[in-house]
Amino acid sequence: MMERMDYVRAILGDAYAAAAQHEEAEVFMPSNIALVKYWGKRPGVLNLPLVSSLSLTLKGYGTKTRLSLSHEDSMLLNGKTLSQGDPAYKKAMDFLDMFRARGECYRIETENNIPTAAGVASSASGFAALTSAIIKLKGWDVPLKAQSMLARLGSGSAARSFWDGMVLWHKGTRDDGMDCYAEPVTHSVHDLCLSVLVLDASEKSVSSRDAMQASLATSPMAPEWPQRQAAHLDAALKAADFATLGQIVEDNAVLMHAVIQSAVPAMSFDTAETKKWKDNVQRWRTEGMPVYFTQDAGAQIKLLYPSAHRADIEEKINAAGVEYFTVAA
Ligand code: DP6
Repeated sequence: MMERMDYVRAILGDAYAAAAQHEEAEVFMPSNIALVKYWGKRPGVLNLPLVSSLSLTLKGYGTKTRLSLSHEDSMLLNGKTLSQGDPAYKKAMDFLDMFRARGECYRIETENNIPTAAGVASSASGFAALTSAIIKLKGWDVPLKAQSMLARLGSGSAARSFWDGMVLWHKGTRDDGMDCYAEPVTHSVHDLCLSVLVLDASEKSVSSRDAMQASLATSPMAPEWPQRQAAHLDAALKAADFATLGQIVEDNAVLMHAVIQSAVPAMSFDTAETKKWKDNVQRWRTEGMPVYFTQDAGAQIKLLYPSAHRADIEEKINAAGVEYFTVAA
């Protein structure tokens, strides 16, 4: 705890002094989907990633959080009161402990407009929103880069949710985490669409955090993952056309899932529907449609394509009767 507190103090610096606390604060923060994945952590308590990553923000899709001072701690998630033993309650309160004044208690009311824990990256928007809410409640003036560094302590992917468009999260090399932050990037490939297909909205059996730790600890592919992932990131940032970028995005997701599937014991997030959609994407490409997929620690498939093809792709998704949403970036 001490090490994390020192880190938080170092980031907040003078902001502490300028506090004008409010009774409550309400914020909305979007989620994001990694085009080149964060998978693996460095040792320590600062949630430092093994690899840098690149994401696309899901503008308008994420978490609304209302944080208020209260006589006791409580948390409401999507209208349901969580028990103190609930992992989501513990993670949220553990996060707020880093900012809590002596004797202060909080009521967290949080709502996702995307399925929670279904691999649609709700921990990213959840911790970005909690970070933003506590800063607003405290009346602190904190630059977005510093907010991304704080949000990372709750969930790594949350570090990338503070800007629209493409965001690069630098892993940094320092043990004190001071060079580990996210920032927006301008990319030469524009007018992208990402459709998130909700193939399975049930809670997943293994969290991304557990799958990440277990797969990197046991997969025979783990030693080569950081280098190959870094090469993907470098190529993705330099990609000058959509097809090059799309192919890297798909290759990176396939590689991450190969690490997961080769864990001992083996793990897989795929359902029959997931496999069917991957086949669909690859078949549509042979038919001339520029579309690529990515997949996180869940069954969902996300389709990446140029916005000029939005109507065609959405027609195919609608024909399959699958729930989805599309963001343009
Ligand atoms: C597959 O951010 O959920 O979505 O830092 O342990 O909370 P923690 O992990 P989390 O992991 C996200 C993994 C991923 C890839 C990505 O978003 O880059």
